[in-house]
Amino acid sequence: MSRILVTGGAGFIGSNFVRFILDRYPDYRIVNLDKLTYAGNLENLSGLEKNPHHSFIQGDICDADLVGRILEKGADVIVNFAAETHVDRSILQSADFVRTNVLGTLNLLEQARKYKVARLLQVSTDEVYGSLGPSGAFTELSPIAPNSPYAASKASADLLVRSYCKTHGFPGIITRCSNNYGPYQFPEKLIPLLISNAMAGLPLPIYGDGLNVRDWIYVRDHCAALDAVLHRGRDGEVYNVGAKQEIPNIQVARRILESLGKDENLITYVEDRPGHDRRYAIDSTKMESQLGWHAEILFEAGLRATVEWYRSNSSWMEHVRNGEYLTYYDRMYGQRQRTLAER
Ligand code: NAD
Ligand code: TYD
Repeated sequence: MSRILVTGGAGFIGSNFVRFILDRYPDYRIVNLDKLTYAGNLENLSGLEKNPHHSFIQGDICDADLVGRILEKGADVIVNFAAETHVDRSILQSADFVRTNVLGTLNLLEQARKYKVARLLQVSTDEVYGSLGPSGAFTELSPIAPNSPYAASKASADLLVRSYCKTHGFPGIITRCSNNYGPYQFPEKLIPLLISNAMAGLPLPIYGDGLNVRDWIYVRDHCAALDAVLHRGRDGEVYNVGAKQEIPNIQVARRILESLGKDENLITYVEDRPGHDRRYAIDSTKMESQLGWHAEILFEAGLRATVEWYRSNSSWMEHVRNGEYLTYYDRMYGQRQRTLAER
């Protein structure tokens, strides 16, 4: 397990995972394959340039030759983070999601079989289960019922991994985690977008009535869960990962404003996202009872650390914002904001 091909390791969770593994297992070697889409950023890997245990390759997980050449040189396991990940973009550009998330995963499965990789960990999402009502939580046995093109593409990839396990006895494992937050997250996702806008004194766009609920997990807890699954998980299994920190979006916005000492009138309600899932909640009993993992970081502490990270890394944010930075909201709704005062 000491030679890992990490795909999508220049993105948010992948880059945190690379640091986590190199820190915990100093003798491991990581090859990091990332296409560097708008969401991939080499600044997320700063400090690792001279680390002999980490090498970066810019490339596409759909490229069979390239993936084959990397595996031929030797990798015990693949951890697949590479994906198009933003629900709002998937509504506008579904084909990109099918290409990378479905066909890219298929290519990794094929190459992994060919080169007899010992394990492929498919990093998936609770969004494949769809939306919950006011109570209950997703278990690994909940029906797959994706509602966005993003979730549908991730669900499709999960089903391919499952089918390879059943049909070919392939050593695949799937994790399904809830919403992550923490350092290096691209500011099109809720928490970094709100922090970045609040710091700049810009409106904080809240979709619909602001009462949609997400189960927030600090990215380091997710990395620890992936470490546990990678080393102690069982082939062919699915593991749900969550932190039991369910919070409505409007409360997330209020807490961010409070921690930055900004006024609540920056909150701006905007048109809802089409097909917007109402609530996610994850039951991680299987991870806890079988692999001895549990989330350690409470939302208050994780948010404090995250706000502090964005405050102290303003140049990272500036560079990201100067590059491609167009939210779904900007594109679709332009000026059609409904301010708090108008409601
Ligand atoms: P991200 O968008 O920050 O990073 C994705 C990375 O994949 C980027 O570096 C991008 O350049 C790379 N990439 C995209 N297409 C590629 C391709 N064809 N070939 C190679 N690299 C490619 O995403 P993230 O939030 O870090 O999510 C990582 C994984 O975790 C995804 O698979 C996502 O579905 C899953 N996940 C995310 C969350 C979350 O809350 N962010 C929760 C659960 C699961
Ligand atoms: P997001 O970070 O896009 O993650 P996901 O849709 O995968 O859960 O959104 C988290 C929640 O925040 C979701 O309910 C949509 C909402 N949201 C807003 O209210 N405003 C925004 O500007 C964004 C990006 C999201």
